[in-house]
Amino acid sequence: MSRSTEITFIRPDDWHLHVREGEALKSVVPDTAKRFARAIIMPNLAEPITTVKRAASYRDEILAAVPKGLKFEPLMVLYLTPQTTAKEIRKAAKSGFVKAVKWYPAGATTNSDKGVKDIADCYPILKVMEEVGLKFLVHGEVTDESTDIFDREAIFIERHMKKLALDFPDLKIVFEHITTEEAVHFVKSASSNVAATITPQHLLYNRNAILAGGLKPHYYCLPVLKREKHRLALVKAAVSGDPKFFLGTDSAPHAKGAKESSCGCAGIYSSHIAVELYAEVFEAEGCLKNLEKFASINGANFYGLPINKEMITLKSVSTAVPKEIKFGDHILVPLRAGGKVAWTLA
Ligand code: DOR
Ligand code: ZN
Repeated sequence: MSRSTEITFIRPDDWHLHVREGEALKSVVPDTAKRFARAIIMPNLAEPITTVKRAASYRDEILAAVPKGLKFEPLMVLYLTPQTTAKEIRKAAKSGFVKAVKWYPAGATTNSDKGVKDIADCYPILKVMEEVGLKFLVHGEVTDESTDIFDREAIFIERHMKKLALDFPDLKIVFEHITTEEAVHFVKSASSNVAATITPQHLLYNRNAILAGGLKPHYYCLPVLKREKHRLALVKAAVSGDPKFFLGTDSAPHAKGAKESSCGCAGIYSSHIAVELYAEVFEAEGCLKNLEKFASINGANFYGLPINKEMITLKSVSTAVPKEIKFGDHILVPLRAGGKVAWTLA
């Protein structure tokens, strides 16, 4: 069968994005704003976004970095800490621009040390979120060092996700950046209030990308890439059109030196070719017709937000991916650096 020469579909949203701050932020926001109408902005800055006031100024900083002529809406998230108050949650819901609260289990990933260890301590807060309709975004990995890193997500489901979904049936929960067949199965079998984001790297690569033929730090993210059988389960879920699964790049830029280090940071930068990469996945499965659901419809419906009105077009022309991208005063090495991507944004 011949390839479609182009596809036009509703402008997508990125339901999981890191843009950092300062000069670094200015370098990366345009890549997202060119492709996406909205993005859920992760709050794990060095000093996490824990108040509506800081979310408002962070939002302004992002808006100031959007190139002229582009329309882009940052959707803000509060970082859950043991000190988060019910008052702040109510204020967040009233603000209109804060859409969710993120749980980083303390120690799970970049800037998670101020996160929550025992979620039971936050049950009164989750109760308020359930009442006011703020979404609960979860980094789903257990943090005990004795647990094998490849098993941390599957164990988190048994220990926490199942209980959370039962204890808060009316709370909308996003299981972020799922990486395993266990997570696909859990999300599918849970109520319609449980959904998941899936990244391009977890759809396109397995753990060989990090570990085979030399150590490749630019493929290291958390949750870490898993075995091929898990990648296949994620692909099947994403391309199916099931409303529970939607696009969240988890594009997480780090300076080259911070990744190419004796203790390298977790995070993969993909905003420069994000939609194009997802199109590769859907094309390979013969499911391009479902890309719009995954990228532009399912997430908006889950969040209860309007579907975007504008359209975007991808052409089936391959383009070269730069080896490096400016990142404030540093550079970063993006996903597919020096390679090619099969689609080009028109
Ligand atoms: O790989 C990751 N990078 N996973 C996360 O959960 C956080 C992110 C970051 O902020 O760099
Ligand atoms: Zn993330």
